[in-house]
Amino acid sequence: MLSDEVAEYLALQPGGRYLDCTIGSGGHSAAILKRIIPNGKLIGLDQDEEMLSLARERLKNYKKNLELIRGNFSELKKIISEKDGFAGILYDLGLSLFQIRKKERGFSFLVDGPLDMRMNQRQNLTAEQVVNESSEEKLIQILKEYGEEYYAPRIVSAIIRGRKSSPISTTFQLKRIVTSAVPKRKKRIHPATKTFQALRIAVNRELEALEWSLPQAINLLEKKGRILVISFHSLEDRIVKQTFRKFAESKSLKVITRSPLIPTRMERCINPHARSAKLRVAEKL
Ligand SMILES: C[S@@+](CC[C@H](N)C(=O)[O-])C[C@H]1O[C@@H](n2cnc3c(N)ncnc32)[C@H](O)[C@@H]1O
Repeated sequence: MLSDEVAEYLALQPGGRYLDCTIGSGGHSAAILKRIIPNGKLIGLDQDEEMLSLARERLKNYKKNLELIRGNFSELKKIISEKDGFAGILYDLGLSLFQIRKKERGFSFLVDGPLDMRMNQRQNLTAEQVVNESSEEKLIQILKEYGEEYYAPRIVSAIIRGRKSSPISTTFQLKRIVTSAVPKRKKRIHPATKTFQALRIAVNRELEALEWSLPQAINLLEKKGRILVISFHSLEDRIVKQTFRKFAESKSLKVITRSPLIPTRMERCINPHARSAKLRVAEKL
């Protein structure tokens, strides 16, 4: 989503207080800060220290208006000590291109790196552990639930065979195993896409984090405050849609976007990674 569009849906007020739960390298936050200075405040959150450093550098001219916090958005209630509510809260879920492209982080099958996939570098659990130590049943469940992978049993059989001879410890090793396990057909996406997505979601407990976080965020909104969520796959979008609906039924929220907004053709050309993005917006009553 374009930052201008995000800023528009946040209905930014000069002097308002905002929370970016996934600051990343600070693209959307820069657009927000520009519009709320000189008296507004933005809190930017990320669980990835490298991303916080990038955001700190990019937004160094807004020091007075910006507070950066390292943490998981699943713990908003604990992290945010402010008593006053927020006029807007933003989630731009998933990973930044910076994380995807950096081979040491092990998120992508396009670059060879350790099978890591942790967004929070202080966390113990890595994708290597999930792949090499989970039972066959558990791995099938992960690939089915988080990757909606039709060939989950075949892929997992190949993983189990592969890890018997030596641990699977790199992205390319895993990519080779997955590619060899599924029938060769012309497909729009790479055969390893869903397996990598599923493992990443499992390692970072992404769906649980979102499920726990949204009610806390809605609680932190002031009256007429807006919550925006940009998601990148149907599992996340379903959680957002259902949570907004539940709070709308209890008259705590008004849903602004009946159906999610998707990127325009032009945006998809500029940034192909944004092609699956969906934006949902709701307002506190
Ligand atoms: C798509 S990027 C955000 C990009 C950002 N909006 C920008 O304009 O640069 C998502 C970011 O959210 C962070 N993130 C994902 N899940 C998180 C969670 N549960 N708690 C905190 N940060 C999270 C990731 O580390 C990543 O930096």
